[in-house]
Amino acid sequence: MKVLIFKSPEDATEAVAASLIGQVLDKPDASLGFATGGTAEPVYDLMVSAFEKGKVSFRKVRAFNLDEYIGLTPDHPMSYRCYMRRHLFDRTDFQPENTHIPKGDAQDPAVEAVRYEEEIDRSGGIDCQLLGIGENGHIGFNEPTSSLSSRTRVKTLARGTVEANSRFFDRIEDVPRLCITMGIATILGSRKCLLLATGKRKAGAVAKMIEGPLAAICPASALQMHSNAVICLDEAAAGELNLRAYYLDVHPDGKVAAL
Ligand code: GLP
Repeated sequence: MKVLIFKSPEDATEAVAASLIGQVLDKPDASLGFATGGTAEPVYDLMVSAFEKGKVSFRKVRAFNLDEYIGLTPDHPMSYRCYMRRHLFDRTDFQPENTHIPKGDAQDPAVEAVRYEEEIDRSGGIDCQLLGIGENGHIGFNEPTSSLSSRTRVKTLARGTVEANSRFFDRIEDVPRLCITMGIATILGSRKCLLLATGKRKAGAVAKMIEGPLAAICPASALQMHSNAVICLDEAAAGELNLRAYYLDVHPDGKVAAL
């Protein structure tokens, strides 16, 4: 695990966006895994801005999102399909046929989950998976006690996740309880995992992910098993790390030759 601690959330976000853009410059048809949530939004803003300045094109990039709510149609404003269109896809030259997100309105979500996993496999796998982390340590929607060898499947959201995500909905009752999410083994199958966490709210989960035992109670701790996982943090999210001084010693201010 490469643990990079940046002075500000903006610096951490910029490093993550630069890394994703760098992947595309190196490999124009790269396969990128995307995350939703508040933390990812400024990353997408920076990708849009690079596109607008003519620095990068996403025309050949293949996109695979981590998860989707069950019961929302793709055009529902709170669906993750709509989120991705609003924040990234419709503001750049991503080709709709290259953007993949589980179908939350599929007739049989369990079948859809298997189809999605196969779609990732058939495409040759994900080059770089962007991740956020839930306050309870979830990645994607793999809630605590998710199997560390899970594949894409239907999951029930934890109460805390429903509460945390209710800020995006009019009423908490509107937040779906079920989702389709890539599994932990699916995520670990990506050639690179790039996790961004900012703010004090995430400090406890971040400490468990990096320094806690590998355990299903903290799904993000599974990244300890990945040979190319880069964790980008701001000072606040790094606030509960015991070995903070060591990480800063290795990569002062989060600096590293290439992420
Ligand atoms: C959501 C998403 C995750 C995301 C996480 C953190 O529920 N399923 O992919 O990383 O929770 O979200 P935020 O960045 O809004 O804190």
